[in-house]
Amino acid sequence: MTHLRINPSILSADFANLESELQRIGTADAVHVDVMDNHFVPNLTLGLPVVRRIQEVSPLPLDVHLMIEDADRWAPLYAGTGAASVTFHAEAATAPIKLARELRDTGAKAGMALRPATPVEPYLDMLAELDMLLVMTVEPGFGGQSFLDLTLPKIRRAAAAIRGADLPLVIQVDGGITEETILRAADAGATVFVAGSSVYGADDAASAISALRSAASRPA
Ligand code: DX5
Ligand code: ZN
Repeated sequence: MTHLRINPSILSADFANLESELQRIGTADAVHVDVMDNHFVPNLTLGLPVVRRIQEVSPLPLDVHLMIEDADRWAPLYAGTGAASVTFHAEAATAPIKLARELRDTGAKAGMALRPATPVEPYLDMLAELDMLLVMTVEPGFGGQSFLDLTLPKIRRAAAAIRGADLPLVIQVDGGITEETILRAADAGATVFVAGSSVYGADDAASAISALRSAASRPA
């Protein structure tokens, strides 16, 4: 069976205590780092110097999600921090194929994200350039929003295309992932799950992570 991965998002963590917040999620697969520039999305989080520091102190690999404009310029610099994966938005990249190749050249996994209303079809021919496709299951910008079921058909179509071409890339979902919604995303074909408020909002992050894992693999 495919390994399901849970990547808690530090967007919902205490930004004044990031190092101890990273210790709370030791049983997760990676830490999801949301970078927002107040232009691509109407919110501002953190930038390169903070990501560099998180990379230095994190016991887990970094899964960086760039919600920023001018991804062509910035994404390679984030890959240079040593992050395990860097995901740029298709809507923010001018030359996504060139960019994905540049990311892979640094040794990072290359991810590309789609906003909920962005179709996957224009990108099907470039899926082989990617290690991960992030299907946003809320409008990017804020934690704590409700999962958009209308993204499920897109996840299914992307999963079918990936299977059809026998590609190794994985589908990540991000936004509104809870014990209630995770199975729907898993059934549609996602194997990497970002969870912000449902992990960091819990008193015991480790049990929230294991509850998500079991909910994702529970028979429908
Ligand atoms: C939203 C971010 C998400 C966010 C998810 O724009 O990309 O990673 O942290 O938060 P929840 O899990 O609370 O929806
Ligand atoms: Zn994210």
